[in-house]
Amino acid sequence: MRDDYVHGYSEEEANRLKDQANTLANLMHDDTKYPADSLVLEAGCGVGAQTIMLAKNSPQAHITSIDISQESIKQARDLIEKNGFKNVEFQTADLFNLPFEDESFDHVFVCFVLEHLQDPIAALKSLKRVLKKGGSITVIEGDHGSCYFYPETKEAVKAWNCLIECQTGFDCNPMIGREIYPLLKNSGFKDVQVTPKIVYVDSSKPELVEGFNKKTIIAMVEGVKDQAIASGLIDAESWEKGIKDLYKTTEPDGVFFYNFFKGKGIK
Ligand SMILES: C[S@@+](CC[C@H](N)C(=O)[O-])C[C@H]1O[C@@H](n2cnc3c(N)ncnc32)[C@H](O)[C@@H]1O
Repeated sequence: MRDDYVHGYSEEEANRLKDQANTLANLMHDDTKYPADSLVLEAGCGVGAQTIMLAKNSPQAHITSIDISQESIKQARDLIEKNGFKNVEFQTADLFNLPFEDESFDHVFVCFVLEHLQDPIAALKSLKRVLKKGGSITVIEGDHGSCYFYPETKEAVKAWNCLIECQTGFDCNPMIGREIYPLLKNSGFKDVQVTPKIVYVDSSKPELVEGFNKKTIIAMVEGVKDQAIASGLIDAESWEKGIKDLYKTTEPDGVFFYNFFKGKGIK
């Protein structure tokens, strides 16, 4: 249960990551386009939700996507093949122990991975080793402390806070987004720049109501139900009301705000 939830190995979590990537594709990827013939490493590609965007936006770059999970790599490879992209190679590998020579890549891309790692600086330093001098690293992470919504009820906030506490209990850092700047700097990257990627949703944007509020955010909160109730963070009745209230943010007067952070640094 824990690994399924944390790393996106369950079918629901894999679908949630794909929905999230599809919905946020422009917001997250518009300013990431790698030149022809450049060598790009995507670390922690999971089931390929971001890989497909990288492959599409940089059709002439050579992308190597790695993940520690063999099963996720298999799904990612199937997804890329099904969509007809030829510019991605996959490999099962641990980003802390990369099977590549020093300075093998022009660019590194890492999305929604650092939040799951106990030592993100060690991860960034390991990625830096395989990056060429002058090459770039791009890091994307969410920050659950950046969320607010309307209508806001006590139970909805409690359900949201259960998500934060459960993910923290899984040794994740659900508020890592705000740390991207210091993490990149303290890993030795230069010219670090972090851009907020704001997701503001109201009912005038029905595709975001569906793809972000319902299928990404509320689906993620619903994923910790058993853990939240079993660990006594919330009682079952308050949980049901909290989830029902969160769905009110998807109604005609509902509003939802969340901020992702996208950082770039140079070796
Ligand atoms: C939440 S998923 C994100 C997947 C993908 N980047 C995305 O945005 O959809 C985190 C991924 O990091 C991978 N991961 C965790 N630790 C890793 C490690 N040490 N080396 C390589 N991949 C790792 C997990 O297997 C999982 O697929």
